[in-house]
Amino acid sequence: RIAIIGSGGREHSICQKIYESRNVNSLFCIPGNGGTENIATNVEKNIKDFEKIKNFLKEKVIDLTIVGPEEPLVNGIVDFLRKHDLNVFGPDKFCSKLEGSKIFTKKICDLKKIPTANFKILNDLKNSIKYLENKKYPLVVKADGLAAGKGVYICNNFLDAKKAVEEIFDGKFGEAKEVLIEDFLEGEEMSFFLLYDNKSFKVFNTAQDHKRVFEGDKGKNTGGMGAYSPSRLISRELEEKIIKKIILPTLNYLKKENGKYIGFLYAGLMIKNNEPYLIEYNVRMGDPECQTILPLLENDFLDVLVNCVNGNLENINLKWKNKKSLCIVLTSKGYPEKFKNNILIENLNNIENNTDQFIFHAGTKLIKEKYYSTGGRVLNIVMLERNYKDARNKCINLIDKINWNNGHYRKDIGYKVIDEIWE
Ligand code: AMP
Ligand code: GLY
Repeated sequence: RIAIIGSGGREHSICQKIYESRNVNSLFCIPGNGGTENIATNVEKNIKDFEKIKNFLKEKVIDLTIVGPEEPLVNGIVDFLRKHDLNVFGPDKFCSKLEGSKIFTKKICDLKKIPTANFKILNDLKNSIKYLENKKYPLVVKADGLAAGKGVYICNNFLDAKKAVEEIFDGKFGEAKEVLIEDFLEGEEMSFFLLYDNKSFKVFNTAQDHKRVFEGDKGKNTGGMGAYSPSRLISRELEEKIIKKIILPTLNYLKKENGKYIGFLYAGLMIKNNEPYLIEYNVRMGDPECQTILPLLENDFLDVLVNCVNGNLENINLKWKNKKSLCIVLTSKGYPEKFKNNILIENLNNIENNTDQFIFHAGTKLIKEKYYSTGGRVLNIVMLERNYKDARNKCINLIDKINWNNGHYRKDIGYKVIDEIWE
């Protein structure tokens, strides 16, 4: 009896993979979306309301709860549910500071000599501005806490940077006591994932996200417009460096401080000259990376998670399909700014998922067998193919078939691996 907390594309893909597992009897998604409703029971609860969630899990005698998004993790849902003798997949509140506080992570980098952008932590506006006057540009200004991807400013000049620190100390992302100012890292980004049972870990594949809303990486940052997996950058040698220089020092630190990390760890990396630098940690799977990676997994996913929660991850041998996976996100027109909700999405009922083709829902709801949009990111189209080009063409064909008149998507997802013909 399994419950999944969250309502995005990530959670639908987790739900789907659990649904395919051998040993699942009942599956609940709190609160879920139009897609999860077809394979699980959606449970209308606010994910900030830990007490009500706990009562529900107790009442339904749930054996394992999987936490998808960062916010409840950073707010300590895992500690809370464990205190009530519930089995949970997710890092505890202390470990979740890796994502909840960028400054916490930077301090670990400093202590453990983890390669990352050089940085300075400042605690008032006046000194921050003074510091910025003498710096080289571009540089990066960051709010410390969770900011739904909006607390990072890439600044090309002093005036941009001044505006950024002003906004942060002005409370745009909640009360700010400190600001993080760091060097701009050149290179190519990669998302690197691990599964960790607080004793041993398994690399859980790599991916490349596309954050900007328009083709050619133009326009505003979004939650993610599409991804492909595996990353073109990964090699045995690079993986060894990432583990030795970044992952192990971090896990050793958390262990020494008595943290309990059972869950996914997501390292956002910059790779330059085949050397990894840590940009940030997230304490969960990425979205849309999760939707892109999970269909490649050959193992029984529930079996993997149960072994992880029981501290037996060492016994698991992860197996990946020898295919390329590519995901295109279909958003509401206007996202990440203003967009309309409750727009009917026709044509979805006629399309069946298969082992190489998935439609994962994000902002949808199902009313009387019809799907309506309820958010910025609406659907995730995922295809597994021999190469990225075929996968992308198939995604685009499927989006054409859906033919949603309020939809927007990027046709160039994977351009770095498709146009440069490296395969
Ligand atoms: P985050 O919200 O921390 O994921 O940051 C958003 C994006 O900002 C990252 O995915 C990077 O593209 C970019 N970024 C963050 N820090 C740096 C840095 N020090 N140098 C270059 N780009 C950065
Ligand atoms: N895809 C970026 C994230 O999940 O944070």
